[in-house]
Amino acid sequence: MTFQYVAMAAALARFSLLTFFLALNTLYVTANPATISTITKPKRFVTKLIHHDSVLSPYYNPNANIRDLVSRSVKSSAARLAYLKAKSTNAFVVDDTRARVVPENPAEEFMANFSFGEPPVPQLLAMDTGSDLLWIQCLPCTKCFKQSSPIFDPSKSSTYKILPCISADCILSNPAEKCNFLNQCRFNQTYLDGTSAEGLIATEKLTFVTSNEGPSPVYNAVFGCGHINAAADEGQISGVLGLGPSQISLSTKIGYKFSYCSGSIRDPNYPHNQLILGEGTKTEGAATPLEIVDELYHLTLEGISLGQSRLQIDPKVFSRVGNAGGTVIDSGTTISYLVKAAYGVLSAETQKILNGKLGFPQLFATKERGVDLVMDKTSFFEVTGDDEFCMAVQMADGGTESLNVIGILAQQNYNVAYDLAAKKVYFQKIDCGLL
Ligand SMILES: *[C@@H]1O[C@H](CO)[C@@H](O)[C@H](O)[C@H]1NC(C)=O
Ligand SMILES: *[C@@H]1O[C@H](CO)[C@@H](O)[C@H](O)[C@H]1NC(C)=O
Repeated sequence: MTFQYVAMAAALARFSLLTFFLALNTLYVTANPATISTITKPKRFVTKLIHHDSVLSPYYNPNANIRDLVSRSVKSSAARLAYLKAKSTNAFVVDDTRARVVPENPAEEFMANFSFGEPPVPQLLAMDTGSDLLWIQCLPCTKCFKQSSPIFDPSKSSTYKILPCISADCILSNPAEKCNFLNQCRFNQTYLDGTSAEGLIATEKLTFVTSNEGPSPVYNAVFGCGHINAAADEGQISGVLGLGPSQISLSTKIGYKFSYCSGSIRDPNYPHNQLILGEGTKTEGAATPLEIVDELYHLTLEGISLGQSRLQIDPKVFSRVGNAGGTVIDSGTTISYLVKAAYGVLSAETQKILNGKLGFPQLFATKERGVDLVMDKTSFFEVTGDDEFCMAVQMADGGTESLNVIGILAQQNYNVAYDLAAKKVYFQKIDCGLL
């Protein structure tokens, strides 16, 4: 395991904060606020997000200790990094599979529970900002994997419509392999670990339900209805909610805006994690430019501070050179990754602090230029025992293909709002219960 344990007895309260500076440039607004006309308002669709290790999750294991949870996170983050790297360097060679490949363990972080069809049938989906298609398993199953809710039966839904091959959404969703002999739109989604989902691209009514806003329907949402599916890890989820930036994604279909907010992922009882989709999504807090590269969300990272000192790192190591590198913000990676040049400096400075040779700035308050994504001790370190903890930032090795990734631990206690039309991401430090 590449996991770095740092044994020490000192109180964790001594740790200073790690700050990522994200660039704040003048906005460049591109005007493409397209929505499909067939989708009616309301403008905001809210759903609870269920963390993998939460008491609300079907994966919840009351006997797991923090070491178990952390090592699972580290393992799945490594798999996720491999996926993001492959995607960002276009390593998925062939035509339709490039955008179609989803990570090995899509349920690693957050799941959303909302309904498909009329009458509405609840489905538990893995939220994934690193892929684009929304899909679920559908009856009849030539082959299906285990899931916790009943498998969706489109023949029992009055709002299910299969897309014809010639429709624009069919072409977008599956450029290479569009038709079956009935002229129905097909999809074939391949996983990095070799598993796949195959079926028809259709439209359906989705229903989001929240206690204070009541049911909010989205009509004619494009999704994949998978009839031949296999998962390496027989699971609980019904499919994947792709929130990537492509035209087929629900994130662009309903209003070009979405946000997610999470409290501490190590608190299994935290109830307020949530996802908001649609034009009514609040975009508040400090904004930073969003760049979409190979269907991944890239940010401009300007620097890193530890406590009050800005680390001596050439900002070039955070940006994309040619066909590789850059800094991706991801909802499916738990820990964060930095390329070697940045990680080395951070790690050396951290060691100095741990060795007690430096004073500890208690709080970081100044704001130079840009957005400070402040990581406190719970996002920077994970306590794994009484006198032991590990860094939640690791080195993204892999030479020139290295990628910096801002993972979910670093995004805890923020509402992270994506405005895909204005190409900006907003970070608002907030208790998610207040949204
Ligand atoms: C999903 O929602 C349905 C209906 O509200 C509920 O019965 C089911 O228990 C929920 N599943 C999870 C995992 O929260
Ligand atoms: C779907 O894709 C997989 C992997 O690329 C391939 O093996 C399989 O034959 C495809 N299925 C169909 C029906 O084309």
